[in-house]
Amino acid sequence: MATLTDLFLWFGLLYISQVHGVAKFTNIECLSVNENFTSISLCRLYAVKRDVVEMSLRANILQWPKGAVSMRMQLLKKASGYKPFLYNICQSDICEYLEKRNHPFINIILNSFGNRTNVNKCPIPPEIILEHFRFPVKVLDIMPLPSGDYGLFTTFSFHQKELAQVKVYFTLTEYR
Ligand SMILES: *[C@@H]1O[C@H](CO)[C@@H](O)[C@H](O)[C@H]1NC(C)=O
Ligand SMILES: *[C@@H]1O[C@H](CO)[C@@H](O)[C@H](O)[C@H]1NC(C)=O
Repeated sequence: MATLTDLFLWFGLLYISQVHGVAKFTNIECLSVNENFTSISLCRLYAVKRDVVEMSLRANILQWPKGAVSMRMQLLKKASGYKPFLYNICQSDICEYLEKRNHPFINIILNSFGNRTNVNKCPIPPEIILEHFRFPVKVLDIMPLPSGDYGLFTTFSFHQKELAQVKVYFTLTEYR
């Protein structure tokens, strides 16, 4: 028999599953660590309307290293400073990854770019573009995250030396 607590829990879940909230980018920082690798010409957010923010990024690739460029994606969640949260993934070779698309978390992120980016496979185009990209709320259906402030740091490296880093910050408010 269902207890009162069960009922409350059940209605609580029903309620939560109907809550809609806000999922939006709050900040972006792009850093060219090795200036021989890339120069970043655009890295910004646009407030399109209330609670809708778009991200655009343009980076000129000056010299793609001869060899495997690695990519680390780290999710952080704010709790008196940003702390590592759930995902910290390193792909040792971007080109190999783009060929195989074999990591679920990175697939989710990159697939959400859809046709907003010109990056698809190697060779990487001379100018990397991500244009007017909105927070992919559908991602939260497959990868639910609790409310909070998050950072997603992506770092590109060659032979353990950092080439460039993109830090994207976003906030989720009772999103469901
Ligand atoms: C950039 O390239 C110049 C010329 O090849 C080289 O001297 C310099 O060390 C390079 N800088 C880095 C950070 O690799
Ligand atoms: C990108 O995709 C959207 C929706 O799928 C479509 O409406 C739009 O025309 C596409 N843009 C380009 C440049 O292909």
